[in-house]
Amino acid sequence: MKSLPFHTHPDLLVGLEQADDAGVYRLSPELALIQTVDFFTPIVNDPYKFGQIAAANALSDVYAMGGRPLTALNIACFPLRTTPPEVLKDILRGGMDKVHEAGALLVGGHSVEDPELKYGLAVTGVVHPDKVFTKAGAQVGDVLILTKPLGTGIIATALKGRLASKEAEAAAIEVMSRLNRAAAEALERLLVHAVTDITGFGLLGHGMEMAAASKVELTIYASRAPVLSWAREYAAMGLIPGGSKANLRFCEKHLHVDPGVSPVDVDLLSDAQTSGGLLIAVAPPHDEILLTRLRNAGVMDAAPIGEVTDTGKGRIRVEP
Ligand code: CO
Ligand code: CO
Repeated sequence: MKSLPFHTHPDLLVGLEQADDAGVYRLSPELALIQTVDFFTPIVNDPYKFGQIAAANALSDVYAMGGRPLTALNIACFPLRTTPPEVLKDILRGGMDKVHEAGALLVGGHSVEDPELKYGLAVTGVVHPDKVFTKAGAQVGDVLILTKPLGTGIIATALKGRLASKEAEAAAIEVMSRLNRAAAEALERLLVHAVTDITGFGLLGHGMEMAAASKVELTIYASRAPVLSWAREYAAMGLIPGGSKANLRFCEKHLHVDPGVSPVDVDLLSDAQTSGGLLIAVAPPHDEILLTRLRNAGVMDAAPIGEVTDTGKGRIRVEP
């Protein structure tokens, strides 16, 4: 899109120029519209749970902008000739339940016949124009907080190879179908400088986007990153999704990995996530308040994983 002649507008607060989690358009001095869309092929075998994960993932970009979702539209590509219609019904029911859990409404959608099943949603939300969180704005001294454990991409890969345990599958599904709503609500009235959600580019890829947009250098401590316990084991077995390897290649130029960090840790930090947590840059001492609020709200995996250590062009240092 960068090479296309896109238009700007005084009320377009976040558009193609910034490439953030969602577009933001100001309707009035008190109200801005958030718009985002996401859809993908199944990553778990249970159609209802896949629907829930796809919806939690699509809603997440609204939360990452500091907003509240209002309405959602289904997008479905469905192989009618090879798959029973109950499968589509279960996927849509999973999506609808998750949209309702978010306090939003399913208002329609569109489906097409396609040899490959895909599902997702377009989500519309609202935010106060002065309270939009973007990837830009992180400042030296900020603490970086991650709100969900990493490793869902690795477990999904193990699942595809029929190598994942039932417990690992259940844990990954719980993490991926969990809304980022409680995490976003915990940010209210704190000195939060930048927010994004961790999805396909992994923690290092999305961290790098934040670092570049904010013109800073991030330091991430591998040992502090929350990780799904089975993921470490599967990563050590080499069950790394292709997307995670591509993430690492993409990041490499701007990455400094301390020799004391194990390759498995680097694989976990670059693991492509579906419906991952929020990455938040918050100024001390509000990091302590935020962590307390997150624990009280049941976001138990939330952890301080690093700091904004310098100004710069978007480098990440990974320390043990
Ligand atoms: Co996002
Ligand atoms: Co998205």
